[in-house]
Amino acid sequence: MRSYRLEGSGGADSLAMRDEARPEPKPHEIVIRVRATSLNRRDTMILGGTYPLTPRQGVVPLSDGAGEVVAIGDQVTRFAVGDRVTGSYFARWIDGRINAGLIDQLGCTLDGMLAEYAVLDEQWAVRLPDHLSWHEGATLTCAGVTAWNAVTSPGILKPGQWVLVIGSGGVALFALQFAKLAGCRVVTVTSRAEKADRLRALGADLVVSSTDTAEWGGWVREQTGGIDLVVETGGPATFAQSLIASTLYGHIVLLTLQDAKGRSIEMPAALYQRSLVTISRLFVGSRTNLEAMLRAVSQHRLKPVIDKVFPFPEAGDAYRYFQQGDVFGKVVIDGA
Ligand SMILES: NC(=O)c1ccc[n+]([C@@H]2O[C@H](COP(=O)([O-])OP(=O)(O)OC[C@H]3O[C@@H](n4cnc5c(N)ncnc54)[C@H](OP(=O)(O)O)[C@@H]3O)[C@@H](O)[C@H]2O)c1
Repeated sequence: MRSYRLEGSGGADSLAMRDEARPEPKPHEIVIRVRATSLNRRDTMILGGTYPLTPRQGVVPLSDGAGEVVAIGDQVTRFAVGDRVTGSYFARWIDGRINAGLIDQLGCTLDGMLAEYAVLDEQWAVRLPDHLSWHEGATLTCAGVTAWNAVTSPGILKPGQWVLVIGSGGVALFALQFAKLAGCRVVTVTSRAEKADRLRALGADLVVSSTDTAEWGGWVREQTGGIDLVVETGGPATFAQSLIASTLYGHIVLLTLQDAKGRSIEMPAALYQRSLVTISRLFVGSRTNLEAMLRAVSQHRLKPVIDKVFPFPEAGDAYRYFQQGDVFGKVVIDGA
């Protein structure tokens, strides 16, 4: 079987395609014929050596993938051959709060999905909703769960409230879709005004271009009366404006602390001392969060937004395309 492995000292050249024996499952494992995978910002950070968790040398990259179970170990009870599945990001984190013993991640410290076949402990996988294609099913593990938790875990949203999302990456578009499912109104900030129509078609009630209106926070606050929840994926470029846009008791879920150049967010004291905004953080989510999100995706027949699909032998091009930043939704790699 063909698989990619991260070998060497980092950078695009460390993505190496290998020919390996097809894996056999141990008693509690399942073997998945991977039909599609997708990229997240963390995958480019892992490749570039800037991710906070050190990847295992020779690991199979990518947390996100979808495929069918083709073999099961003799103790497996959760799955049968033929089931359509995806993996859970922090594979060992089933429920509750994360702790230091649960930080192993698919595609970083554990072999991930960028291979013809993937082997997962049966506890690390979940069933996919029937209405999703392989490409769509491969987009949910990281960006989907992060957006789901950003929108639902603060526990504050009610229909009619305002949510702000930033950009058109995977997390932002899932957050837009989940906020609309919750009956909320959504403002999207984009650096590319030409994306406004597509963002409105996805349900954005207001779209603001950060290129045309650099100080967009005041405008957003004026239009909405103040944002109730910000899904902050912009980091240093957007944090101050997100604070300005927020209502007095707003909530900012801060997902990004640094930009690609290593600049950190700054807390503008003059702004924050006039605000009672709660700032919270999260790390993707547990398997229980993934299952809850998939129930909502299934119930509403929600379709993830896919920007572009690359063939398996062109995974390096998929990384490069994703890294340049101008995407609308998820970048997917076809199965081998
Ligand atoms: N804490 C966690 O658990 C967690 C989990 C997942 C992701 N994250 C973080 O969340 C962020 C989003 O990840 P992602 O994979 O969804 O998306 P991404 O690929 O990093 O986001 C791409 C989008 O960001 C927008 N963008 C680019 N430069 C920008 C700028 N200077 N100002 C404002 N927007 C800009 C662009 O949208 P426009 O063209 O529309 O401007 C682009 O489509 C990443 O920083 C990632 O590390 C955190």
